Amino acid sequence: MDFTSDNTGALAPQIRDALLSADAGRVPSYGNDPWSQALDRAFAEVFGAQVRVFPVATGTAANALALAHLIPPWGAVLCHEEAHIHTDECGAPEFFSAGGKLVPIGGDHGRLDPSAVAATLAEFPPGSVHQVQPAALSLSQSTEAGTVYGPDAVANLCATARTRGMRVHMDGARFANALAGRAAAPAALTWQAGVDVLAFGATKNGAMMAEAVVFFDLALAEGFALRRKRAGQLLSKSRYVAAQLLAYLADDLWLRLAAHANVMAGRLGVGLKAEGYASVHPVEANEVFVRLPDAMAAALRRGGALFYDWPSRACGPDGRRFVTSFASRAEEVDELLALVRAG
Ligand SMILES: Cc1ncc(COP(=O)(O)O)c(C=O)c1O
Repeated sequence: MDFTSDNTGALAPQIRDALLSADAGRVPSYGNDPWSQALDRAFAEVFGAQVRVFPVATGTAANALALAHLIPPWGAVLCHEEAHIHTDECGAPEFFSAGGKLVPIGGDHGRLDPSAVAATLAEFPPGSVHQVQPAALSLSQSTEAGTVYGPDAVANLCATARTRGMRVHMDGARFANALAGRAAAPAALTWQAGVDVLAFGATKNGAMMAEAVVFFDLALAEGFALRRKRAGQLLSKSRYVAAQLLAYLADDLWLRLAAHANVMAGRLGVGLKAEGYASVHPVEANEVFVRLPDAMAAALRRGGALFYDWPSRACGPDGRRFVTSFASRAEEVDELLALVRAG
């Protein structure tokens, strides 16, 4: 009953197979192997547009390097107050952007609202030499509250950013979970809505050390190869990451894995609600947040359940986070619910 995170699982079998088949012979290094060379085309098919794709090893690297590429050192990145870039990346976006500033904004259920973004922009008058200049908006998809922005919400936020000529970054560590089981196409949630750069995650959903920075504006990708190298993120044996990403996209594997994770979260959310513990945020992807008294949390842990305490403004002091993944089993969910019932 491991609900701590979606990066605790092993590799998805299809990705392990792809790794093994790439693991033979000698090929050119530093992205010149056949797998890496196939990435732009594979992502272009998924997104229905020409893209430039740069694999990196972590989501933090993907976010920090993408943001550093979008803003000048005096630039500001507007983001949700719970955004991973703000709370969990040890200042990497600020470091790699040579001092850019993150400006956190509140918003219900992990989502930013265009009016709140506009109000924050008003605090930074254009041309004020005393203040950082808003240069990028960052959206997490799915959000840190396990919710999802629909295409219209993304488009409205991008339009608000454009009023000040800002670029838009999307932290897609859980992009697959935002899409799975929904009608929206990858394009509708990204470039068609105005997103310039996506940090595309695979590690949480069946891969390992496999993330990618995806540029929808090809001109914007200029120089990024150098920025990535400078940050130590150009992998000499790129084939191992590229082979994973290709297998991840093939036959919609990424969406199938994420759909399973989302179904498991839905099952957990419904079950907890039936026991009187309604989730704090709508369960729209693969995370469930509930308030559980300490005694209940202790009983669950005694029974073998693993999850994080999640005290926060939204969840209160007794908030707990449960994350499901492609590797979660319905039996684990049901076992946890049985423990809740037993009190
Ligand atoms: C929303 C979000 N973005 C990015 C990341 C990437 O993190 P890492 O650098 O650990 O791969 C995570 C991981 O927890 C995350 O939850």
